[in-house]
Amino acid sequence: PELTFTEWGKELGGVFCVKILNDTFLVLNSYDAIYEALVTKGISFGGRPQGNNFRLEYVSDGFKNIVFDNPGARWKLLRKTSHRQIKMFDTGLKRIEELNLKVIRELANEFRSHESESFNPRETIYNTIMNIMTMLLINKKFQKTDKEFKLFTEIERLSISSISSSGRGVELDILPWLRFFGNSTYKKLVRLRQLRDELWSIIKGQIMKDIQLDDKGSNGLMHALFCLYQNQQEGKSPDTFPLEEVNLKTAFVDMIVAGTTTTSNSFYGFLNIISQHHDIQEKLQEEVDRVVGTDRMVSLTDRSTMPYTQATVLELLRLTSVVSMSVPHATMETTSVSGIPIPAGVQMLPNLWAMHHEEDFWGDPHAFRPERFLDEAGDVVSASHENRKHLMPFGAGTRVCVGEILAIGRLFLLLAMMAQ
Ligand code: HEM
Repeated sequence: PELTFTEWGKELGGVFCVKILNDTFLVLNSYDAIYEALVTKGISFGGRPQGNNFRLEYVSDGFKNIVFDNPGARWKLLRKTSHRQIKMFDTGLKRIEELNLKVIRELANEFRSHESESFNPRETIYNTIMNIMTMLLINKKFQKTDKEFKLFTEIERLSISSISSSGRGVELDILPWLRFFGNSTYKKLVRLRQLRDELWSIIKGQIMKDIQLDDKGSNGLMHALFCLYQNQQEGKSPDTFPLEEVNLKTAFVDMIVAGTTTTSNSFYGFLNIISQHHDIQEKLQEEVDRVVGTDRMVSLTDRSTMPYTQATVLELLRLTSVVSMSVPHATMETTSVSGIPIPAGVQMLPNLWAMHHEEDFWGDPHAFRPERFLDEAGDVVSASHENRKHLMPFGAGTRVCVGEILAIGRLFLLLAMMAQ
């Protein structure tokens, strides 16, 4: 859809509506319209479409997660707590960075073991990123044969294949009674909830054990959410919005699904692109050789002295735009965009792909040029530079991606490790 909408935008402009059966979708294609809706009017456009959305409603037990809930006290509390943990996971704890580097080193060793033979790196990359997510969530890393790991990956894969906004399964949103007639997507959704509950009960058991042992270490995002929930149950956090256990389960699946395919697809994209750009490989390698050398692994603290690698991450996010149409938004109240009045409850699709490939702005949008994000001195351009402002792979404003900082950091480590 992002390509079709980009084409239509050439004729219809940056803002237009599409009607499909009884649903009206507001499509935003231009930077000005997307910025106005996501940032300037972030609250008015900050809802999620909850009507005609049987699949999302079913997997989130009635929109009780972060991704599909409307802004409110529960959403804010889950988001704020998760965000705090993700920030801590990013640079706050040396030990966590070391664990992350360990799985990245294993990925490098696995690649190396193939020597000059060609191989498909997909599964290894996917497993590496999934292990980074399991460390974030429960502070544990797994072998691919472990039962828990298989549950993580099956949950992720079932989610991706059953809740996409285009493709198989859409019929259930419009005609939910099809579930009584052997609908194959519905069977997947039922299985997904079963597996989620099974994994959650294992994880919860482990968290309760850690709590009894009074383990004060960093035990991951789910531990933090569970402690908040338990404190509320015991009346120790009376001033926060009361959470139910189902909120923890659904936020858990949010993170697994939102964090894995996005980051691993970006990294596949990187390998694909640089295999055709030897000049970029050389520049990345020159930088890592000069700044890090070969005696130690790259660290997040090297970022400030490795602008070329940083700019490559930004250009990768722009060119690939892996979440091309973002996550659908909905208007919470009567509002407007580009001067056009928009009623409450309208579904809005920000076409990030279109914005990242606008020819009038980028000139050669289909070329991969990290230099777009470097100034004359070779430093990364500041956040106020027009090119940075036009880059929103994680969305922006009220609903900006919770994992942005984590994804950018891990991509930096992966790219630098490959060059090294
Ligand atoms: C390259 C990697 C990633 C990309 C490109 C990406 C992109 C996005 C985008 C475009 C959105 C929708 C923003 C909006 O609604 O306007 C989003 C939402 C979200 N992302 Fe990411 N993401 C990435 C990685 C991650 C990671 C690693 C995590 C978790 C650790 C994560 C967690 C979330 C969550 C929870 C939301 C929902 C936020 C909300 O609805 O309030 N993402 N992401």
